[in-house]
Amino acid sequence: MTNNEESIKIDANRRGVPIIREESHKILQQLTEKINPKTILEIGTAVGYSGILMLSSAKDSSLITIEHDINKVEEANRNFKDAGFEDRATVVYGDCMEEVSMMVAGGKYDKYFDMVFLDGPKAQYINMLESLILMTKSGGYIIADNVLFRGYVQHKETMPRRFKTIVKRLEMLFETVKDHPDIESYELIEIEDGILVIKLK
Ligand SMILES: C[S@@+](CC[C@H](N)C(=O)[O-])C[C@H]1O[C@@H](n2cnc3c(N)ncnc32)[C@H](O)[C@@H]1O
Repeated sequence: MTNNEESIKIDANRRGVPIIREESHKILQQLTEKINPKTILEIGTAVGYSGILMLSSAKDSSLITIEHDINKVEEANRNFKDAGFEDRATVVYGDCMEEVSMMVAGGKYDKYFDMVFLDGPKAQYINMLESLILMTKSGGYIIADNVLFRGYVQHKETMPRRFKTIVKRLEMLFETVKDHPDIESYELIEIEDGILVIKLK
């Protein structure tokens, strides 16, 4: 990790901006190095921390990343610039459901991405899955963070009622992935909040 990345992390943690956790960071780095994507889509930019990690881990990659909070979009753009990635990172300001639908409708991104990192609203993962599959190349990967949602997906008995919908939709994600005709394999990495790694046929 560079000094720049370290200072983004420290600052985000100090201000309570949610960014990828320590162990998940290592996993994402290893996966990106292994996949070596040219084209990456990220849902949930925050301040660009995971974006910088992925761009650093795959030297020839470019990133499109979607964020609906304008302050974070501006901060991410500054961080990408400071990291020297302004030419490789495009931050799209908007709601991910809408932006993803528009990308699919436009046709330009059909089977375009080698890797998708899903780190936005957890309840929408299942709703975006089909569109993301359409935009991911054959043999490409969709990686989803926080799929165990604070452990409540596996331990519903302790779950506060307000998380019922999120947990139900994450369960639907697992059910769909298990039996999807376009998915070759999937793996749940049970560290921190859980990472689901999906490989397409
Ligand atoms: C966990 S944070 C992303 C962290 C980032 N990937 C990292 O590790 O550095 C989730 C981000 O998704 C954004 N988000 C939440 N709902 C969204 C939506 N509907 N559309 C776009 N972005 C959304 C939040 O503002 C937040 O910045």
